[in-house]
Amino acid sequence: MRRLIVACAAIAMLATACKEQAAAPETGGPKRLVVGFSQIGAESAWRTAETESIRSEAQARGVDLKFSDAQQKQENQISALRSFITQKVDAIILAPIVETGWEPVLREAKRAGIPVVLVDRGVDVDDDSLYTTLIASDFVEEGRMAGRWLAERLGGSGRIVELQGTPGSAPAIDRKRGFEEAIAEFPGMTVVRSQSGDFTRAKGKEVMEAFLKAEREKIDAVYAHNDDMALGAIQAIEEAGLKPGTDVVLVSIDGVRAAFEAMVQGKLNCTVECNPLLGPAAFDAVERALAGETLPKWIKVEDRVFDQSVAAEVIDTRKY
Ligand code: AHR
Repeated sequence: MRRLIVACAAIAMLATACKEQAAAPETGGPKRLVVGFSQIGAESAWRTAETESIRSEAQARGVDLKFSDAQQKQENQISALRSFITQKVDAIILAPIVETGWEPVLREAKRAGIPVVLVDRGVDVDDDSLYTTLIASDFVEEGRMAGRWLAERLGGSGRIVELQGTPGSAPAIDRKRGFEEAIAEFPGMTVVRSQSGDFTRAKGKEVMEAFLKAEREKIDAVYAHNDDMALGAIQAIEEAGLKPGTDVVLVSIDGVRAAFEAMVQGKLNCTVECNPLLGPAAFDAVERALAGETLPKWIKVEDRVFDQSVAAEVIDTRKY
């Protein structure tokens, strides 16, 4: 009988050891975290920098990152989240393309006990316990900063065209609102045309070409919700025989390297920073949530305004 008990105990110990071996990395350390990351796509230089920041931070922390590119479709993001839930990941990082339509899948994640950390864009849900935290800039304030800068530059009056971001996305909604708020104090500042350029350079150029055809010399300034669309608009302005940065003033948001280069060349006048390097904060949030901490619902990223006057001096210090 005693031999039987000893044999059973040995088998049980062996089984536990095998299970741990399967979960642990080859080095035999603690279990590797598995995190699913649902990214919107690769529409802009900003987005590429954000993806890179999350990927490299995962690697630095030894996290097994399951990356899914939604190619600009919310339904792809929802399927990715469902697949992460089925795979029983430890946590999910989500950059939601639009604000609405997330409730059902976030409830599924909550029921499965999987924390969801939102990065960059927020969601519109009645129950904020459906996500752990949002790590993002204040997009309304970015719009206000762009509006204030432009009002000062134009002396409080001018005809402006606006290139909006992806319809229904938090940055497009909030940057529009913030800008309108800021210029409302200047009755001479009017947005004469406003259309989505989907946050891409190609669409920004296309929409700007249409604006130029319709308005020609009557455009004093361009307000673009991101740098990529402003860079597309610069091409359209040049092809129309005008001088961007001089004949038409341009202000945009993001602060990517190409925007600084355009400012150094005198083609872009101002960019409002929106920091995409969210990897470290995202994984800090994941680790804190898994340790049982309650996080603030919004971890705000601070941004600054950069215009042509400082571009040459700071360009080499830029990290994205
Ligand atoms: O959500 C952040 C915005 O999305 C960036 O400003 C833009 O470039 C991106 O595609």
